Amino acid sequence: MPRLASRTGRAKPSAIMQVAEKAKRLKAEGRDIISFSIGVPNFLPGEHVYAAAAEALKHDSGQYGSNRGPDALLDAFLAHMAEVGLTGYTRANVATGIGAKQVIFNLAEALLDEGDTIVFPTPYWTSYLDIAEIVNAKVDLLPCGPSQDYKLTPQQLDEALARKPRVFLFNNPSNPTGMVYSKDEISALADVLVKYPDTWVITDDIYNRMVFDGIGYHNFVQARPELRDRVIFIDSLSKTYGMPGWRVGFMAGPEEVAKAVVTLNSNHITSVPEITNAAATAALSGPQDVPQQKCAEFQAKRDQVMAVMDSIPGVVCPKPQGAFYVFPDISCAFGRTHGPSGTKIESDVDFCNALLEAKGVACVPGSAFGEPRALRISYTCPTPQLQPGLERFREFFAELV
Ligand SMILES: Cc1ncc(COP(=O)(O)O)c(C=O)c1O
Repeated sequence: MPRLASRTGRAKPSAIMQVAEKAKRLKAEGRDIISFSIGVPNFLPGEHVYAAAAEALKHDSGQYGSNRGPDALLDAFLAHMAEVGLTGYTRANVATGIGAKQVIFNLAEALLDEGDTIVFPTPYWTSYLDIAEIVNAKVDLLPCGPSQDYKLTPQQLDEALARKPRVFLFNNPSNPTGMVYSKDEISALADVLVKYPDTWVITDDIYNRMVFDGIGYHNFVQARPELRDRVIFIDSLSKTYGMPGWRVGFMAGPEEVAKAVVTLNSNHITSVPEITNAAATAALSGPQDVPQQKCAEFQAKRDQVMAVMDSIPGVVCPKPQGAFYVFPDISCAFGRTHGPSGTKIESDVDFCNALLEAKGVACVPGSAFGEPRALRISYTCPTPQLQPGLERFREFFAELV
């Protein structure tokens, strides 16, 4: 057989999906499984979104669409950005794609030559590493552990940018930690960014509408408007609108970058499909009650999860203020044994496997996100399952000897 391209050896199947698959298999075998694993919002969009899709179907042109996206969707996205204070952008600054993941992939291809460096904080969203490796970039990871609330400090950023990376990739609110940078923290990082004009900044802010405790969402361009010519802002409908399967993502940034992404679209995907575009436009410009209500629900669920994490001796869990993840440091369990099953816990992967086997609770090992002391709890499961799942988690800890 002829050989595969070396790139395929660098592309790894998602670790998150592997846990989800195992949980699914155990469920199919009749086990009572509660899944805290996959990062899907678990709600459906409002009726008006389906109505717009149905209406578009009636008038379907059956044609390829614009490589950038139709004007109605671009305008709806520009208005959506303006609501969070990102004004002054035009259609020429924007491009759409098949989810934020594909947009980030396009950006990696547009901004990184082989061997260029991309720098980002750890814990990171798993795909950042995979995408960087597929395009053969050098990855410079900045460890941001629980003692610094999983947040990048200005000093770390300064030191990293002095190494002259091509791209700095940032994520706020964060998957997997749920941490949100305050206005002051964003300003302090933006002050560092202005010192390094040769580095592109990609800021993946797809959870920007899921921020709790009234702290608000803040970004580099608002903090330092002069960064506008090299900051690229990423957004998506997946989480905010309960539409992960509809696959719509966006970028907004310098015109030349948007143009490069549009050109790559013309070669990769051609366009987001027409019916999806209509649904996406309706989601962005129609009533916002579903996302607002879900955000309030997630905040209450965050409190429920934190109450249990704070009650377990040895677990260190910075309090998240956004998205729908909690990322406890469970390293106090390492070196101990789960009494009833006799399983020795040496790592986050051992912990997650033993927890799934013993208690039927699926979490994702932190090493999938570059932080092997922790695990990720995604708390979007149906509300009646949340407390029982958390109680099983607490019981598992109580059974460690
Ligand atoms: C931080 C982050 N960025 C991007 C994505 C990808 O989103 P999309 O569904 O729009 O591809 C995800 C999905 O989990 C994510 O958590």
